[in-house]
Amino acid sequence: MNTGAPAGRLHGRVVLLGVTGSIAAYKAVELLRRLAAEGASVQVLMTHSAAAFVGPLTFEALSNHPVLRDPLELLPDGRIAHVVAARAADAIVVAPATAHWMAAMANGLAGDAITATCLAAEAPVVVAPAMDAGMYAHPATAANVERLRAFGYRIVEPATGALASGLIGHGRLAEPEIIVEAVIAALGATVRHGRDLAGRRIVVTAGGTAEPIDPVRYIGNRSSGRMGASIAEAALDRGATVTLIVGQTSVPLPPGASIVSAPTTAEMRAAVLEALPGADVLLMAAAVADFRPSRRAPTKLTRDQAPVLELEPTEDILAEAAQVARRRHPRPVLVGFAAETGSLARAEEKARRKGVDLLVANDVLEPGAGFAVDTNRVTIVTPGQVPEPWPLMSKRDVADRLLDRVASLLAAGRPADRGDVAASASATEVPQ
Ligand code: CTP
Repeated sequence: MNTGAPAGRLHGRVVLLGVTGSIAAYKAVELLRRLAAEGASVQVLMTHSAAAFVGPLTFEALSNHPVLRDPLELLPDGRIAHVVAARAADAIVVAPATAHWMAAMANGLAGDAITATCLAAEAPVVVAPAMDAGMYAHPATAANVERLRAFGYRIVEPATGALASGLIGHGRLAEPEIIVEAVIAALGATVRHGRDLAGRRIVVTAGGTAEPIDPVRYIGNRSSGRMGASIAEAALDRGATVTLIVGQTSVPLPPGASIVSAPTTAEMRAAVLEALPGADVLLMAAAVADFRPSRRAPTKLTRDQAPVLELEPTEDILAEAAQVARRRHPRPVLVGFAAETGSLARAEEKARRKGVDLLVANDVLEPGAGFAVDTNRVTIVTPGQVPEPWPLMSKRDVADRLLDRVASLLAAGRPADRGDVAASASATEVPQ
């Protein structure tokens, strides 16, 4: 019988929900409810300490499945329970994830049902940490989080807010709806897209460029490179061949990409123009310096030589790449990024000026949308169309959604824009 009820975005999917021993374990009950409301069949896995916070019976009653707690557990037919669960899973979400659990997972220690299952699984894994702010900021935890990212796990950054300790800090479990979106996006990347970018050559720039003042000092910016690295990682997952041109970065770069180091704007320009002829797509996520010192001191300036810096504008790499791209048929898809402060009013004019298909604009003063955070709230600006604000998402999820757009532009072929018409009339090069 058709009830007319919407199927839900997780309809027919098996999602394993791993709950570890944090005070936020009670919030996993709401997460379970929301996953089920999206149509998922949810099985809960718990560590023994999680069971001290919330009784397994609560999860069993709400999920209609027994809770798996012991990596040594066998099913009645003798099969190993966590291996069966791992094989059945379409996605695994660990929420809340404690510092201890992440340390065990980062080191492949299979002492609890969740780590054992993740080790045996091929499904995408989403991890939502929750702990005291000091614990989250500790270099050991930070290193473990980066290690999990390097496995391809998606980290849903904790929020800043009231913690169980009574303190305010960065360590509060992300809201259930954000975690559900991350699960849907993780599944989307593997199930929905498959390898839809196989055979495509994608060039991504990431990080900030640095313009030398002398051999030691430079003018730089706060870009971490995470947005560009996430795009590269997502494109690789979808089968693309990726060249990642990087300035200064402070995040791990995906191992499957071909990495080109380009510390200055001039070097990045050269690298982009060299990579462009073979590319289907250029995504300029780098924070490129707009000015550089007109002169670079050959030796380190001393204290008594405090300079008055004279700056000159740098080359606009994207605008130049767009000029070159217009002479090619089919023209590569061009995506620009614009980090604005306070308003996105200039974004459409910028998209036109740069000659891009899409401009991904964000206001870096907004909470969760700036540098060195794992989330972003972006607005997609397409010349001639109404700007499209996207909700707050992890940078990896923004990357996948953006690649959806890129994939449809590639599939549709690139329509000639006004620039194409003007350029083709005066082009001296034979289109390739
Ligand atoms: N960009 C570039 N070369 C530059 C500066 C920026 O290729 N010299 C690229 C960035 O990588 C980004 C896009 O252009 O994809 C927009 O960058 P943004 O700094 O916002 O634009 P600007 O041209 O610097 O414009 P304005 O300074 O007026 O904001």
